[in-house]
Amino acid sequence: MQDRIKLAPSILSADFARLGEQVAEATKAGADYIHIDVMDGHFVPNITFGAPVVASLRSWTHLPLDVHLMTEQPERYISDFAVSGADIITVHVEACPHLHRTIQVIKELGVKAGVALNPASSLSMVDEIMPQVDLILIMSVDPGFGGQAFIPETLEKISRLRRMLDSRKVDAELEVDGGITINNASSIVKAGGRVLVVGTSVFNAKGGVSQALQKLREIKI
Ligand code: DX5
Ligand code: ZN
Repeated sequence: MQDRIKLAPSILSADFARLGEQVAEATKAGADYIHIDVMDGHFVPNITFGAPVVASLRSWTHLPLDVHLMTEQPERYISDFAVSGADIITVHVEACPHLHRTIQVIKELGVKAGVALNPASSLSMVDEIMPQVDLILIMSVDPGFGGQAFIPETLEKISRLRRMLDSRKVDAELEVDGGITINNASSIVKAGGRVLVVGTSVFNAKGGVSQALQKLREIKI
């Protein structure tokens, strides 16, 4: 069981022209994961990057690369991301009619498997798969863009998921993604979130990446 929170800076808000350096900076500043948002322009209305970017970033950090696939038919890309150095691959339940099979494929590649839920998706969608995944990602904004406001109703959903995980003794990590700031991070942790994805509030922080991560690090479970 985890006794400290994990911080996962999202490179979506980084300077893409200096991506390697920004990842190295976040690593040095004490990040736990590097969160990589892959968007296909179909599942979400935005396009970001694919597996070659993950392969390039691999040499800039020893941290686990936490790949969040916001794509339709994510099973088409899983192997490419695994080969490129992803350590965790998370797929959206809304994009996977055969979620069980998709999760097995990720695990067979030796990668940790995560499932993500959009704000309007019910926890019942992960009810059956829960014991088989390494991570459950609760979206606290509608995916597609960085810098959106945290949806407050998510807190109650996080609490419910925390209770479900604890009562069933499922050890999956509970990751929360979207709109997390120094002002709301404590309430997310109090509700049961243990991995905090932070984009804008780290890479666009006035005081810099390192200071932003240090402040978030002070939040205790
Ligand atoms: C949103 C992405 C998030 C995003 C978070 O679709 O999945 O990971 O980068 O960015 P902030 O922290 O700015 O909301
Ligand atoms: Zn994300």
